Amino acid sequence: MKICVIGAGYVGLVAALSFATFKNNVICVEKDQEKVDKLKQGVPIIYEKGLEPLLKTCLSKKKIIFTTDIDRAVKKSDIIFIAVGTPTKEDWSVDVSQVMEVANQISQSINTYKIIVTKSTVPVGTQKRIKDIIHDNGVQENKYDVVSNPEFLREGRAINDFLHGERIVLGCDSEKASSIMKKLYKPLRTPVIVTTPPTAELIKYASNAFLATKISFINELANLSNIVEADIDTIAYALGMDKRISPEFLQAGIGYGGSCFPKDTKALVNIGKHYDYDFRIVKSAIDVNETQRLLPIDILLNHYESLEGKIITLLGLTFKPGTDDIREAPSLYIIKALLEKGAIVKCYDPMVSNEIKKIYPQLTYCDDLYDSVVDSECLILCTELDDIYQMDLKKVVKKMMNAIMIDGRNMFDMDEVKSKGFKGYYSMGKG
Ligand code: UGA
Repeated sequence: MKICVIGAGYVGLVAALSFATFKNNVICVEKDQEKVDKLKQGVPIIYEKGLEPLLKTCLSKKKIIFTTDIDRAVKKSDIIFIAVGTPTKEDWSVDVSQVMEVANQISQSINTYKIIVTKSTVPVGTQKRIKDIIHDNGVQENKYDVVSNPEFLREGRAINDFLHGERIVLGCDSEKASSIMKKLYKPLRTPVIVTTPPTAELIKYASNAFLATKISFINELANLSNIVEADIDTIAYALGMDKRISPEFLQAGIGYGGSCFPKDTKALVNIGKHYDYDFRIVKSAIDVNETQRLLPIDILLNHYESLEGKIITLLGLTFKPGTDDIREAPSLYIIKALLEKGAIVKCYDPMVSNEIKKIYPQLTYCDDLYDSVVDSECLILCTELDDIYQMDLKKVVKKMMNAIMIDGRNMFDMDEVKSKGFKGYYSMGKG
């Protein structure tokens, strides 16, 4: 099929390349000329495992082209995916202005029947708003349909999640569009759920909010475990054995980050508010996460009278392993609090992007893990990186001023850490 994907961000680029792998011809539209130039040369503009070889293969087989020309791309395509950003505003509402702008542009270029699909995470009612825009711009009703098709890919496993996902959700109000969309996805052999557009739009928020709530639940249980000297890992293991609960997303830690959970939980609460519904459980999940990510600061303040002039080392800065993304990473909030308390912050993360250096230029960024621990009072483990699992604990202890470890991701075992010479070890709910 002839496909156009508008927006070469995370979701857009992964979707465009994935569609190009199974017998579709794809045009990917991106308004940033610099990004288009890089992509044309096979240079990925985001870090994602497997993306670079896939990009090169699709380019060499001429299955994808990158352009800034939205008009031509829409005219030449049958299905147009909108994958532009939908950031959350200060008041937790979703800024859909980029989606609406693109819908407007698309409506100017509709020559033959088109299916316009929202891939971006959009609030309930967006499919209808897009339909209205196109209608108001004078396009005949038989020339287009609008479908909601949310995406469930995870950073670090995005291509695999796209091509081998667990479900495809299609929010359609037209038989014609639903049958073409099912045909498009048929080669993936993934179960397809066809439903109404508002249901599809809500499924996306429900999935992310449910997972985020699961994390906040296990984190609260971890906090209680610390008090009653129970072991959260064993609790999570036992809970996960119940198939109704499942073992996934029960890893206690310093909270969730990333570009999705923090944004989508707030958006869901806001959607509820819009319809006069108070979504209490998700509000609590957000609240728990906001305190959880600052737990290392509470621990430090219990341990030290003041952090003024003390060197504190953060190991791992990204919101999770396998990415260079620091958006909403718990580390950012920990750094902010440490600096406010006068601490000197050193850090190590081999994936650290220039982004964080722009936000906090005053930190000492070390290329070597062992350099980052020199004269440090305390290590805070923020991301479960392989390098951290593999570090030589005895060597680390020798270099530190005062060997304390706050294990924000429960990577180590208390007895092991103490046997290597650490004076203090704080976990997230392992007693
Ligand atoms: C998440 C969802 O998992 C995807 O299904 C969804 O498509 C995506 O958002 C999106 O909306 O685009 P992602 O943000 O890549 O994917 O990250 P996750 O792997 O879900 O992790 C999110 C955060 O939760 C990380 O900070 C991670 O450390 C934390 N987490 C995860 C825990 O603290 N405990 C767990 O047990 C699992």
